[in-house]
Amino acid sequence: MTDAAQRILQLRAELDQHNYRYHVLDEPSIPDAEYDRLFHELKALEAQNPQLVTPDSPTQRVGSLALSAFGEVKHEVPMLSLGNAFEDSDLEDFDRRVREGLDLPAGDLFGSVEYSCEPKLDGLAVSLLYENGLLVRGATRGDGSTGEDISVNVRTIRNVPLKLQGEGWPQVLEVRGEVFMSKAGFEALNARQLEQGGKVFANPRNAAAGSLRQLDSKITASRPLEFCCYGIGRVQGDLPETHIGILHALKGWGMPISRELKLAKGAQACLDYYRDIGQRRTSLAYEIDGVVFKVNSLAQQRELGFRAREPRWAIAHKFPALEELTELLAVEFQVGRTGAVTPVARLKPVKVAGVTVSNATLHNMDEVARLGLMVGDTVVIRRAGDVIPQVVQVVSERRPNWSPEEREQRSVKVPEHCPVCGSAVERTQLVKRSKGKESFVEGSIYRCVGRLACGAQLKQAIIHFVSRRAMDIEGLGEKSVEQLVDEGLVNSPADLYALTFEQIVGLEGFAELSTNNLLEAIEQSRKPTLARFIYALGIPDVGEETAKLLARALGSLARIRQALPEVLTYLPDVGLEVAHEIHSFFADEHNQGVIGQLLKHGIELQEEGDLHPEFAASTTLAGFITKLNIAFIAATGAERLAAKFGSVQGIIDADWLDVRQVERLSERAAKSLRDYFDDPANAQHALAIENQLREFGMHWQSERKQLEGLPLAGQTWVLTGSLEVMSRDVAKDKLEALGAKVAGSVSAKTSCVVAGPGAGSKLAKANDLGVKVLDEDAFLAVLAGYGVAL
Ligand code: IVH
Repeated sequence: MTDAAQRILQLRAELDQHNYRYHVLDEPSIPDAEYDRLFHELKALEAQNPQLVTPDSPTQRVGSLALSAFGEVKHEVPMLSLGNAFEDSDLEDFDRRVREGLDLPAGDLFGSVEYSCEPKLDGLAVSLLYENGLLVRGATRGDGSTGEDISVNVRTIRNVPLKLQGEGWPQVLEVRGEVFMSKAGFEALNARQLEQGGKVFANPRNAAAGSLRQLDSKITASRPLEFCCYGIGRVQGDLPETHIGILHALKGWGMPISRELKLAKGAQACLDYYRDIGQRRTSLAYEIDGVVFKVNSLAQQRELGFRAREPRWAIAHKFPALEELTELLAVEFQVGRTGAVTPVARLKPVKVAGVTVSNATLHNMDEVARLGLMVGDTVVIRRAGDVIPQVVQVVSERRPNWSPEEREQRSVKVPEHCPVCGSAVERTQLVKRSKGKESFVEGSIYRCVGRLACGAQLKQAIIHFVSRRAMDIEGLGEKSVEQLVDEGLVNSPADLYALTFEQIVGLEGFAELSTNNLLEAIEQSRKPTLARFIYALGIPDVGEETAKLLARALGSLARIRQALPEVLTYLPDVGLEVAHEIHSFFADEHNQGVIGQLLKHGIELQEEGDLHPEFAASTTLAGFITKLNIAFIAATGAERLAAKFGSVQGIIDADWLDVRQVERLSERAAKSLRDYFDDPANAQHALAIENQLREFGMHWQSERKQLEGLPLAGQTWVLTGSLEVMSRDVAKDKLEALGAKVAGSVSAKTSCVVAGPGAGSKLAKANDLGVKVLDEDAFLAVLAGYGVAL
């Protein structure tokens, strides 16, 4: 057998396998771009050796066989595919071929050809058949002539009309379009799958395919699928004579069509459209892999006809692929500010959508385990928008036959010692609470226990400490912090306050003036607000919002330092885990030393005060009893106990008869209560919390007061894009003053998004989720409505 013949067989086998995975299993193991390359290699070899072409070659058919579990549907009008353009010149060639086909002379003296322009959605093609205006069948494309009957599944897609609206629709109307999943829908689905231990999808296309082709249509119904119509198949009746005219008619009958549909005259206008959509690609709510141009006039389409399985009147102009293949060279571990030791993939550099990628995030060891990564693997890398590239999956077919020893050597292991300071690396524990008992389970994060003795953590901690939103020490960049640490001048944040002119002026990039400026900035930072100071400490899981909350609710550093985890859980959004992080941060001797030194060096906290009345009101005895999670005691039982006994001590002192006298408290609840408090550890723990709350200045008697309602209380706002009249920081302050929470990301719970010019993915997500969006003018009007001056 010749080399060419051998390679052809190999390519066919490989392509068949990928086809099956892609079309039948919905589990492709290589990116489309790689598939295309293999396909083109085969096509070229067959072109050079026409005697080797066989009817079963993947080049001779499109797609793959239908799953036997779904019924078969024959497409009376075949579902075709599209030719591809990658370069501008490919599109110009297409336009030239169209003009030649239509006998239009070169040059635009006789007018340009009109094209419809649409995004090429990255989902899967389906056919929807309407008879007398009713949806009677849905089918996948399959191999183009036979697809699968997915009627029950398409009926679950919310934007597929079950009945056409209005009138004038053809008696038989087959609508074609793409079923896809929006980026937000995909992320939400994956988050849900992760939580429930289900399958996580590599990208929105796979998620859409895997969701639509479910034998159980209840699963399909629970997935955020959408439909967008881009054409027609079999029709009995009248329709307009242009493609865009047809889409508009369909829209009138209730069919979703693309909002980006446009008419372009000539190739140049098509290229303008391509560039415009390309620029907005990342801010669209859904993924697209190109744009599609179609000759608008149906008369011209008929004149041009088809070539093999592609229309001569349409072409897909592709964007650079977001996924590529490369080799995993190594997995290294980085140490972050809080000591988290996280795996990072070092990759053989590969260009993904125009950017060279040589590192990718691996998140944590659970992710590494999920991927089943081994060093030397061929991996799929994905770059979506501006986010850090990700390793999506391992191409297991490309894994060489490693021996068990080699596999062991190539598997990814967490280092036992920190790569920076050599301290032990430990797995974090998560706190679980059930039936009133706390237990610990293993978390997915590993931490270096070296804290500020670890150079990496010290540098990151200081960079965070001096940052604008923390202590705001201007003039101390990352490079200077590294030098200060490396030269041993700074071993803790407190050392910043002991720096001298001589020490600083010796550093790279510091002259007399800049040194004095830095010393002045350090001096200026000595009086931070309590919230800034707490944030600057860099407690794991405590961002700016939580720091503000702690400061506002507890009012003093002393209270925050002492607060028991249970007391902290009275703060909104602080769960037991974060509460434990905060508590153990302040319980740590080393951290206590650093805080002590900072105070000794003259840090003077501002805005310290009393316990916030809202916080005091939230800590009712009934609420506290409910929090203890005692079996059979829910909110109403807890209220009755609180009313009768008035304190934890009161409950502990009560005897069995007293408890039985509590109105409508069942015997088993009373028994469970006694059992709980008869355990001395439980009793002591509950008393400690009660005592602490009392020390903090609150009384159980203070039942939840109706708070003076701030107008935006309970609402979450998001600011995005640039604001012109006021800065985002100012806007945030104003919103917070009205009681709103200001968040960094949009979710279904977001009340309102304020979007200025340049808003991107957050705006797209808001639109996608149907969240209210205001521009700056409308926002200012809202503020004015509440009497807020600018
Ligand atoms: S037109 C004869 N328009 O791309 C025309 N296809 O490579 C057939 N697609 O199977 C398709 N968006 O799944 C057309 N606006 C669009 C499209 C589109 C996505 C997909 C479709 C088709 C594939 C063709």
